[in-house]
Amino acid sequence: MTEQKEWDKRYNEDDLPWDSGMPETALINMITSWPKTPNKALDIGCGTGTNAVWLAEQGVEVTAMDISEKAVALAEKRCSEHGVLCRLIKTDFLTCTPAGQYDLLFDRGCFHCTEGEEERRSFVRQAAIHLKPGGFWLSLIGNKDQMSQEGKGPPRLSATEICSAVEPAFEILSLESVLKTSPKQPQPLRFWHCLMRKR
Ligand SMILES: C[S@@+](CC[C@H](N)C(=O)[O-])C[C@H]1O[C@@H](n2cnc3c(N)ncnc32)[C@H](O)[C@@H]1O
Repeated sequence: MTEQKEWDKRYNEDDLPWDSGMPETALINMITSWPKTPNKALDIGCGTGTNAVWLAEQGVEVTAMDISEKAVALAEKRCSEHGVLCRLIKTDFLTCTPAGQYDLLFDRGCFHCTEGEEERRSFVRQAAIHLKPGGFWLSLIGNKDQMSQEGKGPPRLSATEICSAVEPAFEILSLESVLKTSPKQPQPLRFWHCLMRKR
């Protein structure tokens, strides 16, 4: 995966095309249609904390982590501006020891940063360790069916790459291909919405 100093550089230079400042629609749809709000959630690669703050505002006990010190500082600022408490941790998800077990894992654009099959499997093993039995993981992943133009846009995975990495530990409940736009990214980008349950 990209190293911490490269992420810090992007945050320091405000090179954050993914940072819409709006909570993710797929997360809102999931939480608002869920029979019971999850007690504890972990936002992996939380960035500036938009989704962590939104989850905390729904009454969820949120832990949010990021490998970038600058991202964690920005997420802390957002939490205090919104008057919510999240546990914020600066760490590498691939190597961290779980500080608890969660009902829900959420990542928007972190799993897809893994490089190669072995790293994807490590990420999935870590996801399973962080979840309670039967817990859920919602992941937003760049979709390889849309070809990258000159290396622009997010990293992308194919459905096969996702399934072969996650299926040993997770049951895939839905895998949907979705076109997304945002004020910072007006050109539609194709993403996967992948909802999984720990086996
Ligand atoms: C594309 S950004 C998405 C940020 C945020 N989820 C959002 O939607 O705005 C990916 C984030 O994952 C973080 N990240 C990358 N590798 C990581 C790792 N191994 N452990 C924790 N965070 C990581 C980066 O620092 C960055 O903030």
